[in-house]
Amino acid sequence: MKVLVTGGAGFIGANFLLHSVPARRNAQFLNLDALTYAANPKSLAAIEDDARYRFERVDITDGEAVRQSVDAFDPDLIVHFAAESHVDRSILGPKQFVRTNIEGTFNLLEACRARPDRLFHHVSTDEVYGSLGDEGFFTEDTAYDPSSPYSASKAASDHLVRAYHRTYGMPVKITNCSNNYGPLQFPEKLVPLMILNAVEGKALPIYGTGLNVRDWLYVEDHCRAIWAVIDKGEVGETYNVGGHNENTNIDVVDTLCALVAEALGKEKDALLDLKTFVQDRPGHDHRYAIDASKIERECHWKPAESFETGMKKTVAWYLEHREWVHDVRSGDYKRWIEANYGAR
Ligand code: NAD
Ligand code: TYD
Repeated sequence: MKVLVTGGAGFIGANFLLHSVPARRNAQFLNLDALTYAANPKSLAAIEDDARYRFERVDITDGEAVRQSVDAFDPDLIVHFAAESHVDRSILGPKQFVRTNIEGTFNLLEACRARPDRLFHHVSTDEVYGSLGDEGFFTEDTAYDPSSPYSASKAASDHLVRAYHRTYGMPVKITNCSNNYGPLQFPEKLVPLMILNAVEGKALPIYGTGLNVRDWLYVEDHCRAIWAVIDKGEVGETYNVGGHNENTNIDVVDTLCALVAEALGKEKDALLDLKTFVQDRPGHDHRYAIDASKIERECHWKPAESFETGMKKTVAWYLEHREWVHDVRSGDYKRWIEANYGAR
């Protein structure tokens, strides 16, 4: 089996490859990634010498380059992660989100259409459904109602994927997952940002009231969910993925302060004092919560990690991988990527 992964040098894509290359012994993997600010090719060191794994620096907004890679590799399965993924960046500059998330997905769909038996697995987000009140859950039938340019661009890409199934008969599957956390996440997202700021004694910026709720899932559980849907899900279907771990942002930050304090032998209260309430994000969704009963029932998937065990592992990982953090934050590192992988 030949598996083409896009965005495999980013957070979830790299975890997916590190999990899949050793586990799927009869598969070959090609990773297409543009190596944007969010990527770290060193995350993939454990598999880079594996003969069944290969990397190509390709920007999915370049339709011709995508077509050439797809034609040459001739994949049986595409797992599409590549995206601009950070909501705050989408508010500051939506254009690249439209290009990568919508046009990039379109380019991949067009390139994959040539072979009608190729399975296209599209990795998406629960943010396409918009915001919940204090009650209820997102199901696969919840109407799309995205709030941010990020979630609107992901919603558009989901619609394109579904349209290619209905119109051209392309075999597709879509997973809409809740907030992921774990190793290898770029430290602009809530969890790694708070861990590193707490370690470095910097302010912990909490948007608005801090009472917004997210449904947290450990990244390895998401990777297993994607394979569960590829292996057992129905073609043309959507599956919501979530861990039943609803927490307010304040709860998440308090948990992380306690874990960092324990790991470093510091006073927890000194870290909690770093919490700083700042201006709210425009269009900030109040609550996300996933009804994951369809994937549990049809694909026999359940998360293995609880919020407590997953957050503990995540804090330990960031404390043990300061060089990785330095790399992704540093301009020198971007120059190292250009020298080793060429310019985009
Ligand atoms: P990320 O930002 O960490 O990584 C994105 C990767 O895509 C990077 O390696 C980047 O270099 C690559 N990329 C970006 N633009 C590209 C382009 N034009 N061409 C080729 N490669 C490009 O993102 P992530 O958190 O790993 O998210 C992966 C996917 O999962 C995204 O589609 C995202 O919408 C989805 N998702 C994320 C979460 C989450 O909590 N992080 C939750 C649900 C769904
Ligand atoms: P984030 O990790 O950006 O994920 P998303 O916006 O995709 O859910 O943010 C998670 C939550 O944390 C969200 O409600 C916004 C909030 N947040 C803060 O309060 N402070 C921060 O510095 C960041 C990055 C996020």
